[in-house]
Amino acid sequence: MLRKLAILTALLLALPCAAFAAKMGCCKYADFKEPKKCGMCHRQIYKEWKDTLMSKSYTHEWDQVEYFKLALPHSQKLEKVAGVKAGCIACHSPLAFLSGDIPPKPAHQDTRANEGVSCEVCHNITGTSEKVPFNFSFNIEPGNLKRGPRKDAVSPMHKTAYSEFHKSAEMCATCHDEQSPYGAWVKATYREWKEGPYAKEGRVCQDCHMPKAPGKSAGGGKERKDVAHHTFLGSHSATQLAGAVDLKIEGAPGEAKAGEAVKFQAKLFNGKAGHPIPSGSTEERMLWLEVWAVDANGKKYPVPVSKKGFKGEEYTIADSSAMAYQAIGEIMEIKDFKGLKRDGNVPDGARIFRHPFFDPKGRMTICQWYTKDNTLVDYRIKPKETVTEDYSWTIPADLKGKLTIKANLYYSQIPSSVGEFFKLPESEYAPILVNSTEINLNVR
Ligand code: HEC
Ligand code: HEC
Ligand code: HEC
Ligand code: HEC
Ligand code: HEC
Repeated sequence: MLRKLAILTALLLALPCAAFAAKMGCCKYADFKEPKKCGMCHRQIYKEWKDTLMSKSYTHEWDQVEYFKLALPHSQKLEKVAGVKAGCIACHSPLAFLSGDIPPKPAHQDTRANEGVSCEVCHNITGTSEKVPFNFSFNIEPGNLKRGPRKDAVSPMHKTAYSEFHKSAEMCATCHDEQSPYGAWVKATYREWKEGPYAKEGRVCQDCHMPKAPGKSAGGGKERKDVAHHTFLGSHSATQLAGAVDLKIEGAPGEAKAGEAVKFQAKLFNGKAGHPIPSGSTEERMLWLEVWAVDANGKKYPVPVSKKGFKGEEYTIADSSAMAYQAIGEIMEIKDFKGLKRDGNVPDGARIFRHPFFDPKGRMTICQWYTKDNTLVDYRIKPKETVTEDYSWTIPADLKGKLTIKANLYYSQIPSSVGEFFKLPESEYAPILVNSTEINLNVR
């Protein structure tokens, strides 16, 4: 009892709002049905959900590693972050949190924690306890009543109720915005969307991440013209990322002389995402632009981006000598740990669109719960924004003939240095090509 109280107090102190803690242990796993039961009738939706990160939000390899190797041990060492022991689970495996199964068993033990963000989580949500939701501030009432977007849904299995909340971006905000125990906004996709152009147009998260198509949502259900698909495509989908940013090279001359500097610009336009790219787990996401000059023989020369001179710019230009993420060594008690390469394998001089986070000791970190500040620099591409990058490259004196300027825009979930350190599958950190373009000029 005393221990329980201590845990609860730690939780209350570490989390910004006390109201959340009350829900931990409010329920039992048995109060919620397994997703495959829902899938008996909602076949298509079940299949789609199964393929998304929502169904893997607990079991996914990097999630397991970050929780069990970093966040959980850290929560047991440092009072200030004690709350994340339960906090991570509240968003990544809500049933485990609601059932008081903290910490849950690791994924390989195949408990119900593995269900992740399941049908029952979202469709038993009734609203939020916050005015502007964040940090798993959803209210939930398990039972036979399923809340959804229809006023006329009739099911033989369960009761249904129309829920305005399910049509709103605020529902997504309950898990997609997060404040660290130090008060930093470490996830802010909803807040970013809210101040951008899409909120004004009334285009919500669901419009892009749950596309509508004609069909039935359930065997025995009504034929409808706009069934909500549960694809939740984000940055883990190469098709969602492909072309998410338009890329152009402009301003280069058609002809140039060897030995001269050739000047040009790269223009990047975010015309598809309702929030900056990257968004979400920005502590570890990178979007970067590599520019190369390639001569007639195929020899490649890197073309570094020109500096603009803003505060914190050094974090946005790849530098293979820069080290970061030292907190990993501290948490894992690795002696003489110097950190990992800040930018992984991104080639020197490439512009990186990112939002660096800093721990209480001022070091760049991927531990979002251990983030004291992330306001130094936020260099991402906002919705409907065009960013221009300048380049100036001196053509070698002996170069003649056709010269190609190539620009490749890549995205990665996790810096490769971090992925390799934790021996994650390569697919978790491999660069994904977002766009590419090239122009030719003739060197006299
Ligand atoms: C025996 C079949 C069956 C099972 C099992 C079933 N449903 Fe349904 N469900 C339906 C039918 C039929 C509809 C109505 C569809 C329509 O009208 O378009 C429906 C509608 C819904 C709706 C829409 C409600 C609204 O008002 O918009 C939700 C949400 C839902 N079900 C969730 C679930 C969940 C979660 C489970 C598992 C716990 C589940 N269903 C299990 C048949 C089923
Ligand atoms: C992350 C939250 C989330 C999860 C997980 C989720 N849903 Fe939904 N679901 C929604 C939202 C939001 C809508 C309404 C979307 C809209 O209308 O724009 C919806 C709509 C539905 C509908 C009504 C579709 C229609 O257009 O008539 C059904 C049925 C449904 N969900 C069943 C399920 C089932 C079954 C699962 C699990 C396999 C599931 N949902 C998982 C959030 C979720
Ligand atoms: C109960 C918490 C919860 C709610 C509610 C929720 N999400 Fe999520 N969502 C998550 C978690 C956790 C992940 C991350 C899974 C992982 O990688 O571990 C995620 C992942 C995603 C992704 C995938 C991102 C990628 O990198 O590929 C998208 C897109 C997404 N959510 C959109 C939505 C939308 C749209 C809504 C509202 C309709 C919503 N979510 C509501 C918890 C939630
Ligand atoms: C106009 C369409 C649009 C709207 C509106 C929109 N998104 Fe996205 N979202 C995208 C696209 C395109 C991507 C892929 C590019 C990327 O990863 O940033 C994406 C990516 C994401 C990701 C993955 C981000 C990353 O870099 O890991 C998450 C999470 C997400 N969206 C959640 C949301 C939430 C929550 C909302 C509402 C508050 C929302 N989105 C509104 C189009 C949209
Ligand atoms: C307020 C809800 C919330 C809390 C609390 C939370 N997360 Fe997440 N987490 C998310 C969402 C939503 C995403 C998806 C964002 C995106 O796609 O960029 C995510 C993404 C992640 C990812 C990236 C997955 C990937 O595929 O790249 C990891 C790892 C992760 N979380 C671990 C944790 C750990 C460990 C904690 C506790 C210290 C935690 N999360 C706390 C909601 C939360």
